[in-house]
Amino acid sequence: MHAVRSLGLALLAAASCVSAGPLAKRAAAYYDPNDNGGSMLTNAGDGLGEPLNVIISGLSSSDVLTYDGAINYARAIGFSTECLGIHIGNPQSANLGDGNGWVNQTVEIREDYGDASLGTCLESLIGGNHFRIFVQNGTEADSGALFLAVSYEEDVSDGHDIETNGYDIGRDDLVSWALGTTSYGGVTYSTTAENVTGLLSAGSAGINHDISIDGIVTLLTVTIQ
Ligand SMILES: *[C@@H]1O[C@H](CO)[C@@H](O)[C@H](O)[C@H]1NC(C)=O
Ligand SMILES: *[C@@H]1O[C@H](CO)[C@@H](O)[C@H](O)[C@H]1NC(C)=O
Ligand SMILES: *[C@@H]1O[C@H](CO)[C@@H](O)[C@H](O)[C@H]1NC(C)=O
Repeated sequence: MHAVRSLGLALLAAASCVSAGPLAKRAAAYYDPNDNGGSMLTNAGDGLGEPLNVIISGLSSSDVLTYDGAINYARAIGFSTECLGIHIGNPQSANLGDGNGWVNQTVEIREDYGDASLGTCLESLIGGNHFRIFVQNGTEADSGALFLAVSYEEDVSDGHDIETNGYDIGRDDLVSWALGTTSYGGVTYSTTAENVTGLLSAGSAGINHDISIDGIVTLLTVTIQ
């Protein structure tokens, strides 16, 4: 009994040692960008921004948090990389409070409409769900988490603007596609979700296209099976 308790304490001590030292990398779900000069809104270039309304937890399987791993996961849940040849809009930047300052998005990913090569071209023409990925990996807040600005667009004839409620709708659609078991390219994922409040404010202050949001951020934890 005593030996078991000692072992438990030793493990606790080891765990707190890890979270305090340089090995703290990948030991947190995410850090709030607001705590260190960052923002939960991107910079869309016009003084306004899009909400970072989905976070893929730093406690996810580490392969999901790499560039190639994130793209494979995106494909598993119904997205693909942006259609080559049709480029709409400029990249946006985000400051995740990790010491890296304002950094351009890593990649923009669009709903693939069931065909990983042609589908995103279709999405570029008729609208749909898309997201931009930012990585929280600076030395001051190195969670490894992926922050996603997810939105649902109207079709190109409407100037590809975000639909009314398009940020909340985009988030909820992405989450509903991601939840549970998904797979792509021989990798099987299990995804759970949790809503977080207090990171974003409800309302439309500072939000691009003057679209109101409910202020909820959904935290996804993705485990490779
Ligand atoms: C971000 O993208 C913009 C537009 O393409 C570009 O002008 C700018 O140099 C980029 N910034 C960085 C830090 O790469
Ligand atoms: C942080 O992530 C970006 C985007 O994937 C990558 O270009 C950069 O090399 C990463 N930095 C570190 C220190 O891993
Ligand atoms: C998160 O909030 C959205 C919007 O209110 C809701 O539809 C969804 O069911 C919630 N998800 C969880 C995991 O609580």
